[in-house]
Amino acid sequence: MKRTRATGWIFSTALFFLAQGARAQTVTIPVETRNNALVFQADANRNVGIVYMGARLQDKNEYALATGMYKQTSDYSGVANAAYATSGTRNLFEPALSVTHVDGNNSLDLQYVRHESKQLDNNTSLLSIYLKDPVYNFEVTLFCKSWFNEDVTEQWSEIKHNEKGKVTLHKYASAGLYLKASSYWLRQYHGDWAREMQPEEAKLTHGIKTVDSKLGTRANLFQPSVFMVSLDKPATEDEGTVLYGALEWSGNFRVDLELDNRDNLRIMAGINNYASPYTLQPGEVFTTPAFLSVLSTKGKGAASRQLHNWARNYKILDGKGTRLTLLNNWEATYFDFNENKLKELLKDTRKLGVDLFLLDDGWFANKYPRNNDNAGLGDWGENKKKLPNGIATLVQEAQQNQVKFGIWVEPEMVNPKSELYEQHPDWVVKQVSRPEHYFRNQLVLDLSNPAVQDFVFGVVDNLFTKNPALAYIKWDCNAVIYNAHAAKLGNQSHFYVQYVQGLYNVLKRLRAKYPTVPMMLCSGGGGRVDYAALQYFTEFWPSDNTDPLERIFMQWEYSYFYPSVSMSAHVTDWGKQPIKFRTDVAMMGKLGFDIVVSHLKEKDLQFCQEALKTYESLKPVIWQGDQYRLQSPADHDVASLLYLNEARSRGVVFNYLVNNRYEAGSVLPIRLKGLDAKKRYTLKEVNVFPGTSSGIDSSKSYSGEFLMTVGFNPDVKQGRNSVVIEIKAVD
Ligand code: GLA
Repeated sequence: MKRTRATGWIFSTALFFLAQGARAQTVTIPVETRNNALVFQADANRNVGIVYMGARLQDKNEYALATGMYKQTSDYSGVANAAYATSGTRNLFEPALSVTHVDGNNSLDLQYVRHESKQLDNNTSLLSIYLKDPVYNFEVTLFCKSWFNEDVTEQWSEIKHNEKGKVTLHKYASAGLYLKASSYWLRQYHGDWAREMQPEEAKLTHGIKTVDSKLGTRANLFQPSVFMVSLDKPATEDEGTVLYGALEWSGNFRVDLELDNRDNLRIMAGINNYASPYTLQPGEVFTTPAFLSVLSTKGKGAASRQLHNWARNYKILDGKGTRLTLLNNWEATYFDFNENKLKELLKDTRKLGVDLFLLDDGWFANKYPRNNDNAGLGDWGENKKKLPNGIATLVQEAQQNQVKFGIWVEPEMVNPKSELYEQHPDWVVKQVSRPEHYFRNQLVLDLSNPAVQDFVFGVVDNLFTKNPALAYIKWDCNAVIYNAHAAKLGNQSHFYVQYVQGLYNVLKRLRAKYPTVPMMLCSGGGGRVDYAALQYFTEFWPSDNTDPLERIFMQWEYSYFYPSVSMSAHVTDWGKQPIKFRTDVAMMGKLGFDIVVSHLKEKDLQFCQEALKTYESLKPVIWQGDQYRLQSPADHDVASLLYLNEARSRGVVFNYLVNNRYEAGSVLPIRLKGLDAKKRYTLKEVNVFPGTSSGIDSSKSYSGEFLMTVGFNPDVKQGRNSVVIEIKAVD
């Protein structure tokens, strides 16, 4: 008999059910990376569970012995450790996947069929585990991609069925993890505009802790989708076992952390199913976004260095590439500028010594001019009054000043006071019969609509077409979604999912046409950063709050998850600190300025110009080096962190006073990390303010052992509240 797709299906299904009678053999499937192992196991009843997650063992055969060492109470169901828990059958805990079949039945049981492992390159492997329901024609493939050197894994699933009609997915998480420890400590984040990445760390208690977002766009504003869980005790920078998790999805997400009756922890992460039951057609494949995790048995520092390496090598657009320093005009002018004023700023850009001028909000719209945030969003023609000769003149002027030119857009949004809103009311996300509710006086465009996707693509594409020399885009997103309703969408419960897919379609199209141009991911601050978005962006804007004291804390927390090459940090007039402090803080990320250069005092300007030269020489270390957080601002008077190149021959230490109390300062030496104990190093203070001198003797050298055992005192105190030190190995 010729095997068609249909007969092939019947054949393999028959084999599968025949096999059901007999108990299968246990299949143990370890995913090993340099330091760790995540071990799946299909048991004799074909349930696929997680039997081990932790340090890698020398002998692969011993993974299967791990569960036998735990004398916990009975797992009544036999599926408590499910790799992808279902509902309606035996599972007693939070499901990853919950469905209603075409006949109205709510049960799902996913059983092991087979698995395969592929080596994608010398560092990357992909495991696929095929699962199938023995009763319904319903299948799931679990994927686990792993990067050996970086200990990073991404997990996701593909869900499909061939039932005779539609199946509803009520919950469709990307993946589950299952951990065993004596206690679990969750570090999670919360925030709002201008106070992103506020940490909270607490012991998980029994039941479910959910970290989620229902904001639609700007989804991370109140709670970002990154977290970490320490096992047995809170991990420190250098000690303890800690798992970092993050969902690669720029919309509503949900992470459930469930501590069960046997004191094991189940972590389930995926798209938030809030208001989003998904109708899956026969043959359609639903691919969930990737859940990213990295495990470290050597504390938080090792975990973040691994993650940074992975992000730069494999995820962030141009992660190993260079970045442009810039002067932004947002805080210098807000909406109040014209061509002449910008021409002056272009001269200032050159004078300051940065690579690029970034023109912010306010350059567009005519019928409803963009003179404040009440009007104009959506109308992307240059404002004739402010810019009678258009952007092109400014780009030329920039070239004459030997600087590059970049521009701000917020293409997903619309002000009700705009021509776009008048012309395309059905492009706007809103409930037609209910009052509109605004976030920053604006509404969100319906990116689930392909016509809107074309429009949004066109906003950026037109700018590049008209101005091929345009060198940078700041892509903003300042509103959340209220009254979620899309006029052209057949199934409203697909809206939140299809919005994000629509956004990615646009970004993919843009990147196909403009693969390398740097783009900043902004969302009124850091309301949108995640690793799915960073595939299309070279950097993100952590917060509109640029008060350097606040930034030290925020950048510190972001640094657990994102490398400095991706973190834009600008010197502005926020905060009361001197320009040196502000610049020193911005230098720990991707440096930019947003100040009125012509208002700077002579020495301040001179300082900035020299700091930019120093940054030019140190940026390979800051962007690509290993980061060691030496002293946290949360529990020290002086926050201190070090970047060190791979050869451990060059580094830079940033030290900031974060406490103004009497005699607060670096009383004790600060122990450096990561150096070569046997090498000798000189330490030279850089970013020394003109007219002052450093007390640090740069001709002296110290052994790496000394610097890591005794430490070095940068002498941070009142009046010397930030100190930047360059470290060099002596040949
Ligand atoms: C957001 C951004 C700012 C600035 C303004 C412009 O708030 O985060 O940096 O671009 O929009 O309106």
